[in-house]
Amino acid sequence: MIRGVVLAGGSGSRLAPLTRTVNKHLLPVGRQPMIYYPVQALVSAGVTDILVVTGVEHIGDIVSQLRSGEEHGCRFTYRVQERPLGIADALSLAEDFARGEPVVVVLGDNIFDAPLAPHLAAFTASGAAAQVHLHRVAAPQRFGCARFEGRRLVEIIEKPTDPPSDLAVTGIYIFDAQVYGFITALTPSQRGELEISDINNRYLAQGGLRHAELTGYWTDAGTHASLQRANRLVAE
Ligand code: G1P
Repeated sequence: MIRGVVLAGGSGSRLAPLTRTVNKHLLPVGRQPMIYYPVQALVSAGVTDILVVTGVEHIGDIVSQLRSGEEHGCRFTYRVQERPLGIADALSLAEDFARGEPVVVVLGDNIFDAPLAPHLAAFTASGAAAQVHLHRVAAPQRFGCARFEGRRLVEIIEKPTDPPSDLAVTGIYIFDAQVYGFITALTPSQRGELEISDINNRYLAQGGLRHAELTGYWTDAGTHASLQRANRLVAE
């Protein structure tokens, strides 16, 4: 079975002051810490070997909260991201864990109810090198945004001022082992981070990127407004 990666680093600055002493991914969403949702989404799809990556400040709290994985029906491995240099930088720490195989990556602040198993199966059957999962949103300028020419996905634009569609690239990705080489070749963006959208555009350029649309609800929870939305969605 494909292995999973949950990325739970970053400074959580958009949720200040809640994130001064608490890791964003441990904040409550409904009755559970935020990070439980991506973990449960993976476990429900049969992904039970899960790497969790977080920063230096909160690795202790993350391990104390998640423990071995026994109560979630999975097995956790942990890696520490030395500096908050972005999603792609955090993902580079998954290389040994992945053992040359594809991994399914979920951002620790993504809350959604669509089952992942059909998407994992479709990826495997397709022979694609990578897969992104799109969802229609009201404010695509807050996300990686998909640009289409006809039915063909041609570009992913990170936080576009003038969004080419209302399809956000969610924080659920599948990458084969080429990703680590792509990450090594990246340079930091305006916000000083290695951007996952740059990786997806590399896969697009070589024709290896597949896309699927997520059904159900999806939100991130990295801002005060989206954290409230996440709480509302899981309560309903
Ligand atoms: C990150 C990615 C963005 C993606 C989003 C999904 O944004 O950079 O492409 O759409 O996650 O949650 P961030 O939360 O770092 O601003």
